[in-house]
Amino acid sequence: MTNLLETKDLTFSYSGYRVLNGVNLDIRIGERHAIIGPNGAGKTTLFNVITGTYKPQTGRILLRGDDVSGLKPFELNRRGMGRSFQITSTFAKQTVFQNVRLGILSKRGIRFNMFKRLNKMDAITQETLKTIRQSNLEEQKDIPAGLLSYGKNRALEICMAMSTDPDLVMLDEPTAGISKDETLQIVELIRDLTADKTMVIIEHDMDVVFSLADRITVLHHGEILACGTPQEIQNNQAVKDAYLGETEI
Ligand SMILES: Nc1ncnc2c1ncn2[C@@H]1O[C@H](COP(=O)(O)OP(=O)(O)OP(=O)(O)O)[C@@H](O)[C@H]1O
Ligand SMILES: [Mg+2]
Repeated sequence: MTNLLETKDLTFSYSGYRVLNGVNLDIRIGERHAIIGPNGAGKTTLFNVITGTYKPQTGRILLRGDDVSGLKPFELNRRGMGRSFQITSTFAKQTVFQNVRLGILSKRGIRFNMFKRLNKMDAITQETLKTIRQSNLEEQKDIPAGLLSYGKNRALEICMAMSTDPDLVMLDEPTAGISKDETLQIVELIRDLTADKTMVIIEHDMDVVFSLADRITVLHHGEILACGTPQEIQNNQAVKDAYLGETEI
């Protein structure tokens, strides 16, 4: 088996408005795969369907060949799927440490409880600190997420997506709205953290896409327009046409 994730003829509509129209995606084990496409193409919706926030109306989702269509986000999480969100989803009043610990506890299905055995909590504290260190957030460990710079908040998002040690990491526009310098740092962070993982990233910044992705899928009006290596996508006429007037590729 070379594919970690596959979607088969996936469709999804918002109250009758068709947003995904027969999407057949395949994500190979160990690859870094970018999903690109104009605004409104259906990229976030596709993530929401794959990660169990929405149920597909038709079609199937296969994870390691198992049909996982319709499973809930936490069930998919336990099967090794982690994700970050396009819109900041950290808890603003909780510190970086508390946010990451929550991610780790949720994967293990543990609710924070003062009666939990102390040695177990200690292991979780160690794991939390390790994840924070890997994400270069050590200095910000005790700062509430709401007070972090936007760039550090994105790093925290990625850290949270990684906190459950997923095999498959799904990142929705991790560099949206941050400066060029911070973008470079985030790209390095993603490269480091996903070195031995499979990653799917939705991204508008073509520099990020071309520096990270092994393969690219282009989504347009809820359909896959093209899938291939960065070079193949760059030379694809249909892709150029779809992007005309939208952005440079
Ligand atoms: N909750 C919703 N209810 C109704 N329509 C929605 C909802 N979310 C998204 N849409 C519509 O579905 C289409 C696809 O949206 P989606 O957010 O999946 O696109 P996207 O490719 O992620 O866009 P962007 O690049 O701007 O993030 C758009 O036309 C959008 O307006
Ligand atoms: Mg989106």
